[in-house]
Amino acid sequence: MTNHTTHNPLAWIEDSLADLGKQGLQRKLSVRGGRQADKIDLDDQRLVNFGSNDYLGLAADPRLATAVAAALDGWGSGASPLVCGHAAAHRDLEGRLAEFEGTEAALLFTSGFAANSAAITSLVGPGDVVFTDRKNHASLFDGCRLSRSDVRVYPHRDHRRLDRLMQRAAQYRRRLIVTDSLFSMDGDVAPLAELAEVARRRDAMLMVDEAHATGVFGASGRGLCEQLGTEDGVHIRMGTLSKALGSIGGFVAGSRPLIDWLLNRGRSYIYSTASPAAVAAAGIAALDIIRKEPHRRRTLLAKAESFRASLVSQGWNIGDSTTQIVPIIVGDSQRALDISAALGEAGFFVPAIRPPTVPQDEACLRVSLSFAHDDEQIEKLLKTLKK
Ligand SMILES: Cc1ncc(COP(=O)(O)O)c(C=O)c1O
Repeated sequence: MTNHTTHNPLAWIEDSLADLGKQGLQRKLSVRGGRQADKIDLDDQRLVNFGSNDYLGLAADPRLATAVAAALDGWGSGASPLVCGHAAAHRDLEGRLAEFEGTEAALLFTSGFAANSAAITSLVGPGDVVFTDRKNHASLFDGCRLSRSDVRVYPHRDHRRLDRLMQRAAQYRRRLIVTDSLFSMDGDVAPLAELAEVARRRDAMLMVDEAHATGVFGASGRGLCEQLGTEDGVHIRMGTLSKALGSIGGFVAGSRPLIDWLLNRGRSYIYSTASPAAVAAAGIAALDIIRKEPHRRRTLLAKAESFRASLVSQGWNIGDSTTQIVPIIVGDSQRALDISAALGEAGFFVPAIRPPTVPQDEACLRVSLSFAHDDEQIEKLLKTLKK
């Protein structure tokens, strides 16, 4: 007779978790009380929040919550947008996003992760090749793998190496280059003009993920493609409403045929329930604020510049960051955890970022600055780091 009580096919999980624990790599959830703004209550401890992607301080802006409350008319969407339709609010937000991005059309997804997955798998498949920066976001990597196209990883920001790799790719049916514009853990910027030139020369499509740059860079806040003057050379522009726009959801902006194709082929769009219509109202309110209050992004970038300079003068290694995301690279995971814990005791939330989010030996403290921080909070963090 089989002994059902001793047979545990999941026993390996406990061993694997114990291994992660030994390497300082096991992750645990904290419980957040209340809203997150410049301060955050984590596990009943109030901390100054240097851990979120709420770069413009909009996540707790009452104008977003008020817009959602005013738009509330029921809640759930019931089915995929292709089954029960997308709401008028979704249509309006897509129109506003296309206008904001200066493209023919835009398509909304329930998350930026879903947008990346849908876009890549719709654009390439077996017989095609996709080139991806080594430090691209996990959602871009997953999209590449799911597409079943050949995946070529090029060294971080190395457009020359990419060009050489592409010399051998002429026989493929289609070629796609994907890159973050602002790398989410390193705070550095892709060479977008050079990538656009490689794409042109090698007859490839270029997709740029502006998740951390939308709302922050560019004269109108469209991101780094705008800032670097490369919008015309970028065929697929992806952004998210979940970071500087203080809300939730992702989008792809581009030509009308591109958007119609994603609607027909994007699996995470087709086979997933639409977000509640009222959520779209927050996106529209955030776009209004970005248009009317450009001082938010300008002030943020000025604060970030002086913060980076102070860290460098204290002797910290901030890699190649030139943005509001500033890694303090310490290498060892346990050291990153220890510094993060010490900062926590001093009242600051600065997450330790460890492998697999960053490569081995590149564990860091990721400081993300927000318009919501005041000068005193930043000064105090710098003083604590100096100690
Ligand atoms: C570069 C990048 N792309 C996409 C995403 C996914 O966006 P979302 O959080 O809206 O799913 C993230 C989120 O961390 C990101 O950093």
